[in-house]
Amino acid sequence: MNVGWDPHGRIAVVTGASSGIGAATARRLAALGMQVVAVARRGERLAELAEERPGIEAYVADVTDTAAVDELAAHVDARYGACHALINNAGAGGPGFAARGDLEATLAVIDLNLGGMLRCTAAFAELLTASAPSRVVNIASVAGKVGVGPAGYAASKFGMVGASEALATSWAPRGVSVCQLNPGFIATEGFPQAELRRSPLGRLVGRPEDVARAVHDVLLHGQPERTVPRWYRAVVVARHLAPPAFRAAIARVDPPA
Ligand SMILES: NC(=O)c1ccc[n+]([C@@H]2O[C@H](COP(=O)([O-])OP(=O)(O)OC[C@H]3O[C@@H](n4cnc5c(N)ncnc54)[C@H](OP(=O)(O)O)[C@@H]3O)[C@@H](O)[C@H]2O)c1
Repeated sequence: MNVGWDPHGRIAVVTGASSGIGAATARRLAALGMQVVAVARRGERLAELAEERPGIEAYVADVTDTAAVDELAAHVDARYGACHALINNAGAGGPGFAARGDLEATLAVIDLNLGGMLRCTAAFAELLTASAPSRVVNIASVAGKVGVGPAGYAASKFGMVGASEALATSWAPRGVSVCQLNPGFIATEGFPQAELRRSPLGRLVGRPEDVARAVHDVLLHGQPERTVPRWYRAVVVARHLAPPAFRAAIARVDPPA
């Protein structure tokens, strides 16, 4: 199943395609000859993307709206009759979790990042199976492997990582590969990384195109897990091999709220 997956002429759905990683991914997949359905709430941004490059269809939907996501899947089925790649990328950062006032926004971020991925994956389950060999690529995060930053964001991304790992096994017999793709710091509208970019660690911040390239690679080879940039895997390994030292180091860069 992983040999000879040719993207040309295949159908991809990219959520969160109006900026950042999703827009870069939509451009890259369209350049490979895929037909891309670019999904987000800001229709004008999607329309600009679709104008810029043939092979991109703009589709406005909110991934927190189950009926809208089901309509998206029905639209893709009716118009293209297949979905070979679903890139679950729509998401946002969360607030800190320090007081009662943070609860609603925290639950909302879990509903967007994890709930959106589950809604889209469920809506496309039948079409992905009928289109096999097919791919689901979940844009989770290194924050889904090590608990740093806002608690709700980390919870949403740990959830995405867990769901991806479970589905990678249970959906393999259907011919659908499921990948957790975990970016480190990437400079985008939603995650400008401004402070980090100004610091001596600024060169560690990646670009949306780096993630788009990794999505391309995962579509070709169907890996279950990918970290971007790859060296961030060392952080994950350190978390598991030396937890006390890891926690001490994290407390210095991410002090308690
Ligand atoms: N940048 C990083 O450092 C980094 C690191 C690890 C993981 N990630 C993950 O990468 C993904 C993309 O983020 P990004 O960095 O590219 O940020 P971004 O530029 O802010 O992109 C977020 C995208 O999600 C869409 N979106 C937000 N809420 C939505 C909703 N309810 N329904 C549909 N689309 C929605 C936004 O479009 P609309 O506002 O138009 O709907 C936008 O296209 C996120 O899941 C993020 O957690 C980012």
